[in-house]
Amino acid sequence: MSVILLDWYDANAREMPWRVSPQARKDGVQPDPYAVWMSEIMLQQTTVVTVRDYFRRFIARWPTVRDLAAARDADVMAEWAGLGYYARARNLLKCARAVVAEHDGVFPPDHAALLKLPGIGPYTAAAVSSIAFDLPHAVLDGNVERVMARLYDIHIPLPAAKPVLMAQAQALTPVLRPGDYAQAVMDLGATICTPKSPACGICPWRGPCAARAAGTMAELPKKLPKKAKPVRHGTLYLGRRTDGAWLLETRPEKGLLGGMLGWPGSDWIDIELPHPDSMPPAQGDWEEIEGEVRHTFTHFHLILRVVAADLAQDVQPERGAFVERRDFAPSNLPTVMRKAFDLLHQDTAPQMTTHGGLL
Ligand code: ADE
Repeated sequence: MSVILLDWYDANAREMPWRVSPQARKDGVQPDPYAVWMSEIMLQQTTVVTVRDYFRRFIARWPTVRDLAAARDADVMAEWAGLGYYARARNLLKCARAVVAEHDGVFPPDHAALLKLPGIGPYTAAAVSSIAFDLPHAVLDGNVERVMARLYDIHIPLPAAKPVLMAQAQALTPVLRPGDYAQAVMDLGATICTPKSPACGICPWRGPCAARAAGTMAELPKKLPKKAKPVRHGTLYLGRRTDGAWLLETRPEKGLLGGMLGWPGSDWIDIELPHPDSMPPAQGDWEEIEGEVRHTFTHFHLILRVVAADLAQDVQPERGAFVERRDFAPSNLPTVMRKAFDLLHQDTAPQMTTHGGLL
C-alpha cells in the first residue's frame, strides 16, 4: 500500500522551502536535519502558509545550528513574534545549544537521542528521524490521524483513538523511503483527505479506504466535544516618551508569551472591567483608546482595553523600560501586543507593516 502512496507523492509532492523533492532525494540529495527540525517545530500548531516566511527568515539569519545556538535570546524571540506558542521558541534555542554542547553541532541520527533534546517530543523525534535520516518512524499529526481514521474506518473519538491510529500509521510505514512516505501521508491529508469534502475521487488510497466503502469519511475522525473557552479581560498601557521611545517590558520566562516583549498591563482575569488592581506603569495623562483588542489563545478568549499616554522625557517608570524608536519594530511583538499597537495607530497614516515596510 505504501508504494501506491509513494507513486502519488512522486507526482504530487508539495514544494516547501525545507523539503528535498522526491526526485532530488532519489538523486542523492540529503535533507539538512537542522532545516527539517526547525520546520517541524514551526509547523506544530501553525499552517504551512504561515511558516514559509518565518522559516526563510530564520535560515537566512542563522544558517546552521551553531549560528542559532550563538544567537541572543531576545533576537530569536523577536524573530519568532507572531508565530505563537512561544515556549517553542525558547525550546528551539535550548535545543540548538544542547546539540552544540552535547553533540558537537550535529543532530544525532537516532530517535532515542533526539527524544532527549529539549522541545523534541514523540512527534518531532519521529518527523526528524524519518524525514532527515530515513528511519522508519511513523509521524502522527492531525493530518495523519484523519487519514488513518478514514482508511481503517476507526470510530473511537480523539484523543482516545491516538494509540490505535499510531499503531496503524506505524504498521504502514515502509522500510524503503520512510521519509518520503511520512511526508506523503501528511500531504495527502492536507490536499486530498481534507477535513471537509475530501476529494476521494482522485485519492490514491480510494481502493483500500474503509470509510469510503462505508460512506463514513465525512464524520471521521470522531472527536469529543470541545469545552467552551472562557473570556478573560485586562488592560494594556502604551506609553510613548517625547523622543518617541516606547515603554515595554519583557514578560517572565514562565507563563503565557513567556520571554516575549510586551506592553505593561494588568493581569488577565475572568471578571469584567474595571479591573481591580490595574495601575499605569508610569506617571502620565493616560487615556483610554476607543475600541478593544480581541485575541484567542488555546484555552481562553481575551478582551483588552488599551490605555495610552505621551510621557515626559524624564519620567521614571515603575515597570518596564524604554525601547528607543530606532530599535522598536511592531513585528517584534507577539500578535496580541501588536494588535494593541495597531488599535492606537488605526487613524494615523502612514503606518509601519508588521515586517517593517510602509503600508
Ligand atoms: N506538516 C508538518 N510537517 C510537515 C511536512 N514535513 N510535510 C508536510 N506537511 C507537514
